[in-house]
Amino acid sequence: MSNANHKRLVIPGPVEVREEILQAQTQWMIGHRSTAFADLYGRIHTKMQSAFQTQNRVVLLGASGTGMWEGASRNCIRDDKKALHLVGGAFSERWAEISKANGKEVDIITVEWGQAHTPEMVADALKKETYDAVCVVHNETSTGVTNPIAAIGEIVKQYEDTLFLVDTVSGFLGAELHVDAWGIDQQPEGLRAAPRPRLCHRQRESFGTRQANPISRLLF
Ligand SMILES: Cc1ncc(COP(=O)(O)O)c(C=O)c1O
Repeated sequence: MSNANHKRLVIPGPVEVREEILQAQTQWMIGHRSTAFADLYGRIHTKMQSAFQTQNRVVLLGASGTGMWEGASRNCIRDDKKALHLVGGAFSERWAEISKANGKEVDIITVEWGQAHTPEMVADALKKETYDAVCVVHNETSTGVTNPIAAIGEIVKQYEDTLFLVDTVSGFLGAELHVDAWGIDQQPEGLRAAPRPRLCHRQRESFGTRQANPISRLLF
C-alpha cells in the first residue's frame, strides 16, 4: 500500500490509502444538496452504523477532530451547566481547553500521563456534582493509553441528564467500541488526523435537549 510519493509521518495520520481510493478522489465532485449525494449517503449510512455499532444516526462533518470537539462542547454542554473532562494527555487536555474557550464551566479529573482513568473516579465525581456531560478520550494518542469506556459508560448511564461524549479519533476501528451498548451519546470520530470529513455519532436527545441553549449556531 505504501507509495513513494507519500512522505511517511510519525503521527496518527494521514495514513496510507489504497490506489483505488486515491483515484476515487480525482472524480468530479457532486453537490452536497443533490439527490446524488443523498443516494451516496444513504448507501454508506448503514456501513457507518455498523462501524460504530449503533442503530442511531451517524453524521459526517467537514472538519478536523478539533472541529468535532468544538461542536460537541458547544452543543452538548449548556452554558449554565458544568462538564466533567477526564484529562491524561495532550489531546484530552486540549478538549478541556476548548470547552473552556467556548465559555463552558469545566471540572477536570487529571491522571498522570501514561495512566488511564477509572470508573471509580467518575463515580465519585458524579456523586458530588451534577454534570451536563462527561467528556473522555477513548485512546489518548499522546500516551497510547486506552480508557475503559465501557465501564465508565456504565457509571454515566446511571445519570439520566448527563451525556457521555467520547473522542475516538485514534481509537475508532483500532480499539473495541460499542456505541449503543456502552451508552455513548455523542462521539467525535477520526478518519485519522486530517482536515477532511469526520464521522460523528449522535444518540438520545443529545441535540434535542441541548437546543434550549440560547447561543445561535450555524455549523458548530
Ligand atoms: C485523540 C485525538 N483527538 C483529537 C485530535 C485532533 O484532531 P485534528 O488534529 O484532526 O484536529 C487528535 C489528533 O491527532 C487526536 O489524536
